[in-house]
Amino acid sequence: MSMHVIIDCDPGIDDALALLLAAGLPQIELLAVTTVAGNRPVEITARNARQLLDLAGRSAVRVYAGAARPFGYREARCNLVHGADGLGGVALAPAGPIAPGAAALRLAQLLHEAPARSIDLVAIGPLTNLALCEMLAPGSLARARRVLVMGGALRVPGNITPAAEFNFHADPTAAQIVCQAGAELLLFPLDVTSQAVMAPDWIAAFGGAANACGMVAGQMLAAYALQDPLLHDACPVAWLARPGLFRTEDCHVQVDWRDGPSAGHVQAWFGERGDAPGAPNVRAVTGVDNHALLDMVAQAIARLP
Ligand code: BDR
Ligand code: CA
Repeated sequence: MSMHVIIDCDPGIDDALALLLAAGLPQIELLAVTTVAGNRPVEITARNARQLLDLAGRSAVRVYAGAARPFGYREARCNLVHGADGLGGVALAPAGPIAPGAAALRLAQLLHEAPARSIDLVAIGPLTNLALCEMLAPGSLARARRVLVMGGALRVPGNITPAAEFNFHADPTAAQIVCQAGAELLLFPLDVTSQAVMAPDWIAAFGGAANACGMVAGQMLAAYALQDPLLHDACPVAWLARPGLFRTEDCHVQVDWRDGPSAGHVQAWFGERGDAPGAPNVRAVTGVDNHALLDMVAQAIARLP
C-alpha cells in the first residue's frame, strides 16, 4: 500500500535530491508539493520544485507557492550555498504552471479533507507554511499521520550560527509553533544529517548516469557538495521507506524564537536528568546507516526518467 505524502520545501539542491528520491520510491504517492522562502525566495523555490517534478515525470503533482517571508522579519533569510537559482545553475526545461492558492491554505484543506492520520507531511525548509497552516486551522498538523521535519541542532553546533541550524534560524517562531502543535513529530536535526555524508565516489557515479534525473543530480552536486556534502533533506523521505536505517530518541524541545544570537537554537531534554519542562514532543532522529542511505537514494534516482 502506498503512503500519501506532501512535501513542503525550498529547493535548494538537497531539497532537489529529496524530491527526486520521493519520486523514485514506489511506496510514496505524492499528493502535492508546497514551497516556502528559504534557500531562495519563494518564486524561485516554487519554480524549481515544478521543474524538478516535471523532470522526474511527476507533472501531475501540483506545486503551491507559500510564504514569502518568515514570522517577525521583513525579508526572507535566504542563503546562497545553492547558487543564485537554487539549483547550482543546472539547465532545466521551462517550468509548467504553479497551482493557484496559498500553500498554507492548501495544506490545511488537504489535511482536513483526507481521513485523519492518513497523510505524511515532510517539511524540509523553514517552517513558515506549516505554522501558518496551524494558525489558520488549529489542529491541522495533528491530523497528519506524521510530520517529518528537517531542522534544528540538538547536541551539535548549528550550521548558520553557532547556535542554530538554517531552517530553524530562518523562521524560529514557526519552528517553535510546529514543535508545540501536538503533532506526531519526527525531527531530523543536524545530529543525524551530519552523518549523511555524500561520499565523493557516490557523487562521481552520477556522472555515468544513463537517465536525465541522474545526470542532473550529478551536475547539481558537483558544486554544492564542495560546500555542504550532507544529504540533509533526503533523510526524512528515506525514513518513510526504510525507518530501520535510523535511530530515534524521544525528547522535549523548545525553540528560541527571540531575535538575537541564539535565535533558532533548540533546547532539548532527553530525560537523562528528569528536569524536562514538559512531556516528549518530538521523536528526534539521531543516527543513520549512511551506506544504506546512499545506496537507497542512488537506486531511487536511477528508476526515474
Ligand atoms: C537545511 O538548510 C538548507 O540549506 C538545506 O536545504 C536544508 O534543508 C540544512 O540546514
Ligand atoms: Ca531545504
